[in-house]
Amino acid sequence: MTAKLNVNIDHVATIREARKTIEPSIIGAAVICEQAGADGITVHLRGDRRHIQDRDIELLRDVVTTYLNVEMAATDEMMKIALKTQPDAVSLVPEKPNEITTEGGLDVIKNIDAVGKAVKTLRNAGVFVSIFLDPVLEQIEAAQRIGAQQVELCTGEYAEFTLGAKAAHGEGAMNAAQEIRRIHNAAVHAHGLGLKVAAGHGLTYRNVGALAQISEITEFNIGHNIISRSVFVGLYRAVEEMINAISKQKI
Ligand code: PXP
Repeated sequence: MTAKLNVNIDHVATIREARKTIEPSIIGAAVICEQAGADGITVHLRGDRRHIQDRDIELLRDVVTTYLNVEMAATDEMMKIALKTQPDAVSLVPEKPNEITTEGGLDVIKNIDAVGKAVKTLRNAGVFVSIFLDPVLEQIEAAQRIGAQQVELCTGEYAEFTLGAKAAHGEGAMNAAQEIRRIHNAAVHAHGLGLKVAAGHGLTYRNVGALAQISEITEFNIGHNIISRSVFVGLYRAVEEMINAISKQKI
């Protein structure tokens, strides 16, 4: 079965927040993504509210008919918002105030109490819980122990090796192949533990194909590359092209 695509529309809000105005509409973006065939909408409500705002989550909850996945840190503030708005899924992610984007997976082992408490709170409220992790077996085991239903494997390092100059050199391709193996092993391990497996970060039309061949991965969360392409071809077509990039590579 082809993996699902949740489109991360954070950067539609990034453009809006650049002018603190009302356009482009996050709701309009969500509807177009769904019409183009996306299986869900993902947004990241950051502590600093640099793009997505609290009101966006409320509006999206009313409008999104497919699947609303909200990425957030495991803080009391965010738990309150999740309980109030009831997204279909919450993905717990690490957050550093000055990072440009999420820099890697959550260290569940180091933060087991806080993350465990958040997982329990969300599950008691009937929210599906995913945790964003580096493809490290011990982290996956810890996520399963504290009751997560899904792990989202961080593909950031893999993506780095597929970009520009690095990809052009033999070493980049070798490192990318190594990362694919690491992600594959992690996906098989997580699946064996009864977890659902998602993947995301830095994925593009060009590099998603290799990961789409890993049958244990059932969901991709992809944002920046789709929103970037939409500037030139429109959001509808940009989403369709990513769905094609994922599905045509399936063995
Ligand atoms: N998955 C997670 C957990 C993320 O934090 C992000 C970025 O917000 C993404 C997926 C999407 O990454 P990108 O915008 O690089 O596709």
